[in-house]
Amino acid sequence: MAQNTETTNSTSTKDASTNPQFSPDPNGRLYGRPSASHDQKLIQSAPATTGGELLRRYWQPIARSDEVKDLPIAITILHEDLVLFRDKNGQCGLVYPRCMHRGTNLIYGKIEANGIRCPYHGWLFDSQGRCLEMPCEPENTYKDKIRQPWYPLEEHYGLVFTYMGPAEKQPLFPRISVFENISEDKEVIATGSYQAPSGRQALLAGYQDYNWWQFYDNFMDPFHVYALHSSINGVQFVDILKILPKVKFEYTDDGVRTIQHRTLEDGRVHQRLSQTVMPNMNCTASVGNDLGPAGVSWTVPVNDTSFRFFSLQAQTKGANPLSNFEEIGMFKPGWGPGIDFDDWTLQDHQKWQTDYVTQKGQGDINLHSDEHLTPIDTATAMLRRLFKKQADKVANGEDPVGVRFDEPYLIKVMAGNSVLNTSLELIDGYDGRTL
Ligand code: FES
Ligand SMILES: [Fe+2]
Repeated sequence: MAQNTETTNSTSTKDASTNPQFSPDPNGRLYGRPSASHDQKLIQSAPATTGGELLRRYWQPIARSDEVKDLPIAITILHEDLVLFRDKNGQCGLVYPRCMHRGTNLIYGKIEANGIRCPYHGWLFDSQGRCLEMPCEPENTYKDKIRQPWYPLEEHYGLVFTYMGPAEKQPLFPRISVFENISEDKEVIATGSYQAPSGRQALLAGYQDYNWWQFYDNFMDPFHVYALHSSINGVQFVDILKILPKVKFEYTDDGVRTIQHRTLEDGRVHQRLSQTVMPNMNCTASVGNDLGPAGVSWTVPVNDTSFRFFSLQAQTKGANPLSNFEEIGMFKPGWGPGIDFDDWTLQDHQKWQTDYVTQKGQGDINLHSDEHLTPIDTATAMLRRLFKKQADKVANGEDPVGVRFDEPYLIKVMAGNSVLNTSLELIDGYDGRTL
């Protein structure tokens, strides 16, 4: 079974000695049980919360570049309502929605060459909130003194990212190792949306109507692949992944990783390395048969009961980004009720369990005091512990792990699928450990 390099003690469990309300029944009856609670440091993402301030120290994706067209978009991220727009010169801006004059929502603003114009009295704001015009009083220099509240943006790899933390702590935008020097026949594809996913994407990535940690926990949960995805109602991924793995859990420089080994019939070893990067990134190898490096993804809280999920993946130019889904069990004919995921009934979800029902089934927000973690949860516990430690660092005025301000900022992707010989030397695939 799991080879642990950590113990699982990051989540509180009920303790009769410290809770006078708790009088446990010796046979486990429900009566007398204390009310359960959330781990607040994990679940909160609003401004001035411990977790929310950590998330604000990193660049976060908010939309695909190709979604930001000729009309403003309402975006909620980390509990903040914002308006995203692209001016006619192609520059994106992200501003507080209420016009600073008298509060008209800029979602109704007019896009112009250099910014967005409030429709009420015509004040024009550029992508950094500067007021360029007050057309009803063209001589008034007040416009030079004011600023529509704004956040900086960067566009990379087909995604729009924002930094929502203090200006003096704004890190460089990181480079991502697997997208450096990619071969000419490859391109980086962005998936995700400021809108809820639908179709196949919804089936695999789930909805967005529960706390982001229930989704993020799952990236460090290699054993649910054996239960949920391989045993409960057939093989949902590919046959290799139905083998119960031996798993090693490790901290990295900026996160946690699991190294999963499955012995194949011919004695070779399938290695699946999964990785999380502080504070909300993951690198997760394909659940298909292909060998190679993982891409990178972000689980971005909208508020405490919903999130968005964005991914980047290098793939052959022009290929259908969903083509590798064809070999995956849950997308084959005969798996599931055969209707759009949005239309599944309770009975469908009871017959065809997915990540969605297991994670949403933990509630809108998980009750961590109810949990009883065991060795299979080691990496999840490590991830939670690391997140809270980094959040405490920020609360104490320090910089969190990973961020760089004036030296190269590289996120090293180690995750991927490989095949090894019995001495665990790489035969084929991606060995991120050599980075
Ligand atoms: S309310 Fe926006 S310009 Fe007056
Ligand atoms: Fe899963």
